Amino acid sequence: MTKLILGIETSCDETAAALVDGDGNIHANQISSQISEHQRHGGVVPEIAARAHIDRIRGVISAAIAYAGVKHSDLGAIAATAGPGLIGGVVVGTVTAKAMAAAMGLPYYAINHLEGHALTARLTHPVQFPFLLLLVSGGHSQILVVEGPGQYRLYGATLDDAAGEAFDKSAKVMGLPMPGGPNIERMAKQGDASRFDLPRPMIRKPGCAMSFSGLKTAVIQAWENGGKAASEAPHLAASLQQAIADCLVNRSRNAMRQFRSDFNIVAPNIAPDIVVSGGVAANQVIRHGLETLAEAEGFRFHAPPIALCTDNAVMIAWAAAEYINAGLAASPRDFAPRPRWPLAEMSDPSWSAAS
Ligand code: KG4
Ligand code: ZN
Repeated sequence: MTKLILGIETSCDETAAALVDGDGNIHANQISSQISEHQRHGGVVPEIAARAHIDRIRGVISAAIAYAGVKHSDLGAIAATAGPGLIGGVVVGTVTAKAMAAAMGLPYYAINHLEGHALTARLTHPVQFPFLLLLVSGGHSQILVVEGPGQYRLYGATLDDAAGEAFDKSAKVMGLPMPGGPNIERMAKQGDASRFDLPRPMIRKPGCAMSFSGLKTAVIQAWENGGKAASEAPHLAASLQQAIADCLVNRSRNAMRQFRSDFNIVAPNIAPDIVVSGGVAANQVIRHGLETLAEAEGFRFHAPPIALCTDNAVMIAWAAAEYINAGLAASPRDFAPRPRWPLAEMSDPSWSAAS
């Protein structure tokens, strides 16, 4: 067994620690969710999140180490989310990781949270570089080419809200508790997706740019115009879910064609990889839509298991493993946490985790 990497994730409302080895074996995956502390405020409150991370982080790391039944001397590196995210939480995670790395004489990896989402599928599936990535989370909706650790090319991103935000904001309008996405999905199971005629923003435009803020507005209107009746709400949930799925499928189709052209993969029997990742990738209708699209376009479709799509620390430890396996350097200990840290700017050395 290669030495273990301790990963720490604190960028939003989950305090998480995981142990992963360089071959991708998961030895521990601890997650302490703060959802009950934020639920009554209707959203994540940054100050509450930061304090909760401070209260929980030691216990979560100790639990991961105890679960794996390992000694501190079995650790080979410490990794933490260094952004993007709520800065209070990111500071808690990175300070803890740096202190541990300094005390134990181990290398420290400052990991981009989005890179964690991007690379997770390589831990669970045989995905090769370069691959196409649809990254859909609460704060981001992007389509990128992943050429290697730290090497991302942006094909398109949302111009306004993220897909997860469209779920979350619509759920709030509909009086559903957070997190909105899973609650909309649950309610939509009893609904007819063709009942409400919601828009599919951008789908007649070329390229991979997305837009979801108009959908939320359309849901508010539909809610006021009959959708709030108990018998209609499941239909509205199903219609919203289908509209988001259709937009993502449409944008991914353009991306697949651009990818084939950019990498000169013309033979239809050569199947490049497409990965969907981030919290919204847990949605079954979206997964199914993308899987069907991939089949039609001759791509191999991969989605990490649901528990690794939503925020976790396995993906942070694994991203560090990718850097180590690629022979890339660790991060300097004075690497400053970044509230904003676009993946497409990772290859710029001034942004790189491995600079
Ligand atoms: O990646 P993630 O756990 O956290 C961020 O980095 O943002 O993504 C959270 C987002 C939230 O917007 C949540 O509503 C959405 O993912 N989500 C879902 C589902 N599970 C989580 N959206 C739709 N369907 C789901 N099953
Ligand atoms: Zn995330």
